[in-house]
Amino acid sequence: MEISIKSGSPEKQRGACVVVGIFDQRKLSLAAEQIDKAAKGYLTDILRRGDMDGKQGASLILHNVPGIASERVLLIGLGKEREFRDKPYFDAIRAALKALADIGVGEASLYLAEVPVKKRDLSWNIEQAALLANEAVYRFDQMKSKPEDNKKQLGKLTLALQNRADVAQAEAAAARGQAIAGGVKMAKDLGNLPGNVCTPTYLAEQAKTMAKEFGLGIEVMEQAEIEKLGMGSFLSVAKGSDEPPRFIVLTHKGADKKQKPVVLVGKGITFDSGGISLKPGAEMDEMKYDMCGAAAVLGAMRAAAELKLPLNVTGLIATCENMPSGRANKPGDVVTSMSGQTIEILNTDAEGRLILCDALTYAEKLDPACVVDIATLTGACVIALGHVATGLLSNHDTLARELLHAGEAASDRCWQMPLWDEYQDLLKSNFADMANIGGRAGGTITAACFLSRFTEKYDWAHLDIAGTAWKSGKEKGGTGRPVGLLVHFLSKRAE
Ligand code: BES
Ligand code: MN
Ligand code: ZN
Repeated sequence: MEISIKSGSPEKQRGACVVVGIFDQRKLSLAAEQIDKAAKGYLTDILRRGDMDGKQGASLILHNVPGIASERVLLIGLGKEREFRDKPYFDAIRAALKALADIGVGEASLYLAEVPVKKRDLSWNIEQAALLANEAVYRFDQMKSKPEDNKKQLGKLTLALQNRADVAQAEAAAARGQAIAGGVKMAKDLGNLPGNVCTPTYLAEQAKTMAKEFGLGIEVMEQAEIEKLGMGSFLSVAKGSDEPPRFIVLTHKGADKKQKPVVLVGKGITFDSGGISLKPGAEMDEMKYDMCGAAAVLGAMRAAAELKLPLNVTGLIATCENMPSGRANKPGDVVTSMSGQTIEILNTDAEGRLILCDALTYAEKLDPACVVDIATLTGACVIALGHVATGLLSNHDTLARELLHAGEAASDRCWQMPLWDEYQDLLKSNFADMANIGGRAGGTITAACFLSRFTEKYDWAHLDIAGTAWKSGKEKGGTGRPVGLLVHFLSKRAE
């Protein structure tokens, strides 16, 4: 999707369609007013007749409006002006994109991104419009023998502004939106790919291709090198599968060599069957999404490179399958992690933490400014926060606050849970330094407590994306979250 910013009045826009907003009770937005003036009261006339009232969700397409250069004018209901917040804005942009798709126009000028949204600025409006436009045209049909719909798609969207002084700010916001959208698309595609295609080897190949295209450094380690590093916990999960594991290191060098890197760590389980502690059958297909943390790291690294962020960022991905077999981990097995700490595996389905702990120990060697891991770690997080907020746990309050703010600014929110010492006791083991599970209560917290034992030497935060990385049901598909949050976090750090 091509997005451009343009200043100029709506009546003069040539092209297939101009889109303007109408507030509840037929109140015209600024752009609608101008159309109305140029068309000598044509809009007010139509509104008075009651064809369109400006209620949220309403839309009306007009052809050959007198005095208007564009072929069509699309009116979009914005609801009450006083209540024009995030959600009504998203709904309005989505309604416009849906109407444009239904008509089948290839290009349009949108005068909705200039409408003020409560507590937001123009940059946010523009970035979100760019993201929604990309979301609207997203299709995943790589696995279909032929594409499902061959209707003409919107290919070019102009986000129009009346005020020329706003153009530079809007262009920067559009560029950020487009970079996030590119990362989101990459994360969605990788998530949606089936487990028999998106294997650890495939993930590493995709990382290489992306790194080459965007100028990132990359190193991919195979079994022997991972063994040499002493990642006994990670390898214990991998050994149950016939697919070989990979450990991927991506580097974006945007700043002076001496600047410590921000390190992102992704969980890349390309399929989580649970292992010997086998998961129940229902919805097990969704465990192909268990690599969405890794996908988000790739997406965020891609965006950081595209935006040329003046910051050093390193992405680490531990990727393997979690399968039952004669070589798989068994409940009761004890393994030794790269840190030297031993772990009693009481449940082989708590595998995410077993691969992450070694990646987090590896991160220590990079002398990081901070480390953020991203993982579809616990079903308990879905119970706690649903599909709206990503779980956030951290050993450093300032870092946690940065991530909370980044999520707010990106409209890709997270919510903090406690990481108090009282929870640590639940990980006690009679046979090793710790157990890999803490029981049903506080499952997201005890999982983070486990990870915290490998992150004592640096500032660290953990994002549990189990509820936010993909959607189930009729709209099943990857969301690309939390690429937006991560890009905002990195951008702010780069300032
Ligand atoms: N990948 C799952 C977590 C998950 C489950 C994410 C469902 C999204 C939806 C993870 O590896 C897992 O199986 N966790 C267990 C941990 C338990 C055994 C302590 C869980 O959450 O049930
Ligand atoms: Mn699992
Ligand atoms: Zn898992």
